[in-house]
Amino acid sequence: MRLLVAGMLALGAASTAYAPGAAAQAVKVQPGAEDELRAVYVTSVEVAEGGRIAQAACARCHGANGISATKGVPHLASQRAAYLDLQLRAYRYSARVQGAMTGAVRYLSDDALVKVAAYYASLDPPRPAAAAAKGAPTRSDPVQAGKTAAAGCGGCHGEFGISATPGMPSLVGLDPKYFVAAVNAYKGGQRKNDLMKSLVASLSAESTNNVALYYALQKPAKAQTAAAGDAAAGKAAAAACSACHGDQGVSGNPATPSIAGQDAQYIAAALLAYKDGSRKDDSMKGPAAGLDEKAMGDLAAYYAAQQPQPLNVRRPLTTAEWTERCDRCHGANGNSIEPLMPRLAAQRADWLEKVLEAYRTDARKSTAMAAMSALMSEQDVKELAAYYARQSAHAVTYVVLPPAGAKRDK
Ligand code: HEC
Ligand code: HEC
Ligand code: HEC
Ligand code: HEC
Repeated sequence: MRLLVAGMLALGAASTAYAPGAAAQAVKVQPGAEDELRAVYVTSVEVAEGGRIAQAACARCHGANGISATKGVPHLASQRAAYLDLQLRAYRYSARVQGAMTGAVRYLSDDALVKVAAYYASLDPPRPAAAAAKGAPTRSDPVQAGKTAAAGCGGCHGEFGISATPGMPSLVGLDPKYFVAAVNAYKGGQRKNDLMKSLVASLSAESTNNVALYYALQKPAKAQTAAAGDAAAGKAAAAACSACHGDQGVSGNPATPSIAGQDAQYIAAALLAYKDGSRKDDSMKGPAAGLDEKAMGDLAAYYAAQQPQPLNVRRPLTTAEWTERCDRCHGANGNSIEPLMPRLAAQRADWLEKVLEAYRTDARKSTAMAAMSALMSEQDVKELAAYYARQSAHAVTYVVLPPAGAKRDK
């Protein structure tokens, strides 16, 4: 009796299986040609043999039923057979290196790997993790959290970070990297300003990131303050600045602040501070040294009149937006129906976290997953792992194929 994992019929590879209504064709996998799908086509005798191998060589770590009770060890029960086989061969031939697994598969033949993979695929799936208890902390939207944390900043820096008070810098249009560095420089005393030091003292690193993100995503606008200098004269002098601050004060480098639309009085004061050394910065020391007070005022007037531009900063995806992307490959709620695509539903959360970190840092290689995980934050990894661990897993069902050459019933 030949068995076929049902998901095969549903997707892609189905073309190599039945064409409903067409002349009867038993699925034939050419050894070698479709090596990757071998574990999908096994007999019940082979599954039973796989069971014996599993009890002897795998159960002590992955559990007797393929349900792992050990942190860092994945559940295998009801995982896609071809995927399991592929990973086992990756360990066997050192494409994936991990002490415990390398040892476990070292003396197993390819044939044994196929059988043990098919055996684990045939087991009942693990139960999903319990939903988070009511009242458990749920993910706070970082932008919303940033807005809340910035409630006390608007009095000086203006609503939405657009200054309305001469001498106060606008915060809109600042790259988050620069913003965070500036806050940390106040905290650490490298940038001397007692007022700002006390104001940001209680901001945690996470809050600082959130506040930076909140301001970076606001619609940019010029400071609502007047400028005294001669903007036309400033424009000529600005040639010396554009290499770093961009043509119209819009910087392309996160370490160099954009100054387009910045409050003029703040710009002039900053230039003076660089010149007299009260604000120390190697890049600005030279450019400021040769400026007199008039030139500073003119440059300030020119830059204050320039239009600030939106930053190339994305709002982070919500967990729902992420999973919508993941499910395109991993199946609805992480229940993959593709033989080579792992099921994520009801997998151990700690394992999912570990693996996503491994893809993120390229410790585990996968082109598809490297692209997906590159943009994930640590928080995203945690949320996604918890989400998939909570999803119900559907069992893989085997379909008995008619013997080769037999006619199918209508
Ligand atoms: C000594 C404990 C141990 C034994 C024995 C063991 N495993 Fe594992 N297995 C692990 C650990 C730990 C991992 C995670 C490895 C990693 O991070 O790559 C793992 C990972 C796996 C994976 C990768 C799953 C995935 O989704 O990436 C498969 C498949 C697997 N084991 C199958 C087996 C099979 C089949 C056997 C028996 C032949 C076996 N293991 C024996 C500990 C063990
Ligand atoms: C009482 C007024 C006041 C409040 C409230 C205030 N700031 Fe400031 N902030 C200033 C002044 C003045 C400066 C310019 C200091 C200097 O010259 O270094 C400044 C500078 C900054 C800068 C550097 C801007 C740049 O272009 O380099 C950042 C970032 C900043 N503040 C963030 C915050 C945050 C975040 C909060 C709320 C937690 C906050 N500020 C609250 C007055 C204030
Ligand atoms: C070599 C590159 C470079 C050049 C040239 C340069 N800057 Fe800067 N500028 C920087 C960097 C980097 C900073 C951020 C320094 C810091 O963190 O204090 C900065 C900061 C500033 C600031 C403070 C902005 C803020 O938000 O606090 C002003 C204003 C400024 N520059 C104006 C100018 C002007 C005007 C010129 C031309 C006369 C100029 N810069 C030339 C690199 C440059
Ligand atoms: C373009 C298709 C694709 C998308 C989209 C995708 N994945 Fe994957 N994923 C894969 C492939 C292929 C593998 C197997 C890679 C390997 O061999 O290591 C995989 C493996 C994984 C694994 C390892 C499972 C295990 O048990 O070892 C996890 C966890 C995972 N993906 C999570 C995600 C999450 C979360 C998302 C959404 C943010 C996602 N994937 C989006 C294709 C995709």
